[in-house]
Amino acid sequence: MKAKLFKPILMVSVFIFLFTFHAVAGEVEVLHWWTSGGEARSVAVLKDLLEKEGHAWKDFAVAGGGGDTAMTVLRSRAVSGNPPTAAQVKGPQIQQWGDEGVLTNLDDVARANNWDTLLPKVVADVMKYKGHYVAVPVNVHRINWMWVNPDVFRKSGAKIPTTWEEFDAAAQKIQKAGFIPVAFGGQAWQEATVFESIVVGVGGPEFYQKTLVEADPKFLNSPTMVECFKVLRNIKKYTDKNAPGRDWNLATAMVIQGKAAMQFMGDWAKGEFTAAGKTPGVDYVAMPVPNTSESFLFNVDSFIMFDVKDKGAKQAQKAMARLILEPKFQEVFNVNKGSIPCRLGMSRKAFDDIALRCMNDFIASADMNALLPSMAHEMAVFPAIRGAMLDTVTSFYNSDMSAEKGAKNLASAVKGAM
Ligand code: BGC
Repeated sequence: MKAKLFKPILMVSVFIFLFTFHAVAGEVEVLHWWTSGGEARSVAVLKDLLEKEGHAWKDFAVAGGGGDTAMTVLRSRAVSGNPPTAAQVKGPQIQQWGDEGVLTNLDDVARANNWDTLLPKVVADVMKYKGHYVAVPVNVHRINWMWVNPDVFRKSGAKIPTTWEEFDAAAQKIQKAGFIPVAFGGQAWQEATVFESIVVGVGGPEFYQKTLVEADPKFLNSPTMVECFKVLRNIKKYTDKNAPGRDWNLATAMVIQGKAAMQFMGDWAKGEFTAAGKTPGVDYVAMPVPNTSESFLFNVDSFIMFDVKDKGAKQAQKAMARLILEPKFQEVFNVNKGSIPCRLGMSRKAFDDIALRCMNDFIASADMNALLPSMAHEMAVFPAIRGAMLDTVTSFYNSDMSAEKGAKNLASAVKGAM
């Protein structure tokens, strides 16, 4: 009797399996640059969810924080007519890929899953090309964070700084006590990450908007910008001699291990603390970069999907787009990654105090016109202008150029790139 019943049930299950998974299974090749400990844990969540739906994930990870190397590799794959299925691309670059006519329209997935109501308009607009969804957002990162080892501060008798004046006093004490005050990674994108936080703090949100978003030469070469370069130069005094070329996650490890007191870095750094099993508020503290408590420099990671012929790949692409905005992925991924969900109406239960502050500051800063796109992380200006900005900041940082010359060069480099 049991065996008789079992057979039809088995057949139905096999049918359901074949129908749901097999018939539509495909492979996605996904280009991304999430290779640090915390990042790898985060992206693994998406791979697992896709595989659970029967699709295959072909990993195309290109190491290099900030994604500059990944973008170069992507370009060469696309130029040779062989782009991956999906690629981590953000901000204005989505429009550039749209112009090339190589992206898939995701409107059907968006409509079926109500993306227009789920996403804040400011996020949805970036994902659309000529009114159609061509990209799917993953998260919101805040750039202007300072990651602190409170134990190092305690042992040095120093107070966690909230202004650049306080920073100087604290850094001196930390250095005297034998610690490295600032864990720094000397790579152009990391220098720019620190620099843009200085610009919004020293100049204020309007100045940031005029300079690093609108690229107005009058403001780029100005006494306030000179002041910003001076603050950047001052930080260098408090870094160690091995900083040049150091990866961002190795700098974070210096804070985790108590070798350094603080790091200025976006909240993907939190992913490293989480992966190392550290407790926020106890083992580490996150504060806004000095002078920036009211500003929020943001960066939204997203995936563009390329036009592919293969039916299975098309299905896998749509499944990936859908899964990314489902609450399950948004929660687990963002908890691991250190970012906050990009979709509205999520439960806040799984998130810690740092993430909760981030969520509140995101809303508060928008009300104060202090929610600003990150230049260093490709949300603010087109790549040519960003390139000019990064080149100027890195050549200033790695030479003894005066702050006045830094500001002058910034304005002329940007003019040349326009
Ligand atoms: C990305 C993050 C990434 C970080 C370091 C940023 O530009 O938005 O997702 O973790 O670079 O690689």
